[in-house]
Amino acid sequence: MVEEQAKNFLETRPWLSGICDTQSTEELKNKYDSWAKTYDADVKDDWSFMPANIARTLSKLLPQKDATILDAGAGTGLVGQALAQQGYTNLTAVDLSEKMLAIAKEREVYKALHHSNLEDSQIFSNSVTFDAIIAAGVFAYAHAGLEVLNNLFGLLKEEGIFLLTIREDYRSEMQMALAQLPWRLVSEDDFPIYDEVKLMYLLAFKKERF
Ligand SMILES: C[S@@+](CC[C@H](N)C(=O)[O-])C[C@H]1O[C@@H](n2cnc3c(N)ncnc32)[C@H](O)[C@@H]1O
Repeated sequence: MVEEQAKNFLETRPWLSGICDTQSTEELKNKYDSWAKTYDADVKDDWSFMPANIARTLSKLLPQKDATILDAGAGTGLVGQALAQQGYTNLTAVDLSEKMLAIAKEREVYKALHHSNLEDSQIFSNSVTFDAIIAAGVFAYAHAGLEVLNNLFGLLKEEGIFLLTIREDYRSEMQMALAQLPWRLVSEDDFPIYDEVKLMYLLAFKKERF
């Protein structure tokens, strides 16, 4: 029954298996480049509630609207748009895919956009840190893992907020790394997504003060 549901949700969403069986970062970048034009329409039914949820969660944890926010793996800018609708003004986008970022740029909500790999620890100069970092749809199979998590942690200010979405199965894989960092879980929500069997979590961590 569970296996059948999993098969059905992949059949109706061929793009999902396509991106999750990627073997390299280069291949992932090419897939998102090819997907960019139809991404928003393809994910609408499953994902459109999430950017608004993220923006609402952040506004409870970080009400200061000119806070510096990194949208890590910004894609076409759906999260940036939702943050702008909540009044946030100081947004930076990073993404691997130039074509996804080009669409994000058209939304005119980001102060800066960087075409970069989040696995690269030198995207920003040493002194740059953010009040909040959001990674929506980024911590997933064949996407971001430990290296990206550690890089993003380094880019977060003390007492900064790190908000991520992560599916149940991948959360189990990342659990130890998430638990070991010096931050504390300050918000947790879950949502059924795709197959109604596995949950998608929206987690927020607050970095400790040293
Ligand atoms: C599922 S999309 C999510 C996009 C957007 N955050 C949203 O909520 O609609 C994942 C995005 O993460 C980007 N991405 C994945 N791995 C990355 C990496 N290592 N460095 C930069 N971007 C990455 C992809 O290019 C893609 O745009």
